[in-house]
Amino acid sequence: TWSMTTFIESQVEKIQNTVLDQQVILGLSGGVDSSVAAALLDKAIGKQLTCIFVDHGLLRKNEGQEVADYFNQNFQLNLVVVDAKGLFLEKLKGVENPEDKRKIIGKTFIDVFEAETKKLKNATFLAQGTLYTDLIESGTKHAKTIKSHHNVGGLPKEMNLKLIEPLNTLFKDEVRKLGQALGLPEALVQRQPFPGPGLAIRIIGDVTEEKLKIVANSDQILRDEFLTHGLNQSVWQYFTVLTPIKTVGVKGDNRSYEYVLAIRAVTSIDGMTADFAHIPYDVLSKVSSRITNEIKGVGRVVYDITSKPPGTIEWE
Ligand code: XMP
Repeated sequence: TWSMTTFIESQVEKIQNTVLDQQVILGLSGGVDSSVAAALLDKAIGKQLTCIFVDHGLLRKNEGQEVADYFNQNFQLNLVVVDAKGLFLEKLKGVENPEDKRKIIGKTFIDVFEAETKKLKNATFLAQGTLYTDLIESGTKHAKTIKSHHNVGGLPKEMNLKLIEPLNTLFKDEVRKLGQALGLPEALVQRQPFPGPGLAIRIIGDVTEEKLKIVANSDQILRDEFLTHGLNQSVWQYFTVLTPIKTVGVKGDNRSYEYVLAIRAVTSIDGMTADFAHIPYDVLSKVSSRITNEIKGVGRVVYDITSKPPGTIEWE
């Protein structure tokens, strides 16, 4: 029978025999796949691995810092963190169309990643956490930005990097098991899906620093409460969406005029179809009162009761 230990041993050996004494670059996103790939490569080649983490400022609250801290503290690999928050905000300024946002984020990501890659003159390999399923599905709108590297051949040609994809025979559940076997924390291995364009597509309309703060902080509250009430395992994906609509309300003794924020929570097997999750009213009530009390700018919270189809999981 196929065991994870055997898989790790054979992959480690294969990576070592391929890489020899050369240098490898990996784009770390904070997601499950690239994290597991990093951990596996670290086991095989340690310091010969350099991970580039492009922080585009569109991750969940504290996630960038958590990823950086975790990889710095637990591995031998070199970690390069690129703070590109300002650049992404600038590029996204005034952009409202969802597909335009995706394109801008994808392109900016590649530009920043490539610029960093070029600095690593000794690298001969580029590693990616591509899964078996990605090979089948690539080219769809859901292909993660990092994958565009080999999809569109966007790598700096003068570098002549060779591709290593140590996870490309695995399905998602196997990658999670591999992550566990490599000792990655549960919170990382069981992480819910998170789109490449991140929080930018959870802000309907243009992205600003203020709106990013609202969506990140409300998402944090939602995740907190789902964890407290044990819903984080049974609900497949859950997040908040900031709408551009403002409505009238009362806060304290005053009339308020603030944004409507939506909660999206779905059950699903693979994201292709989904049902809105039947969240207990007391949890919704707690989330709603925390969000309207703790988050400046939000005056009303609504729950999305649309399944997929006809609704998509994300709002953009
Ligand atoms: P939809 O909204 O199409 O989402 O029902 C299905 C799943 O895909 C994720 N998603 C994306 N992931 N880049 C990604 O990497 C994207 O542009 C993107 N759009 C949606 C979504 O979070 C859900 O898990």
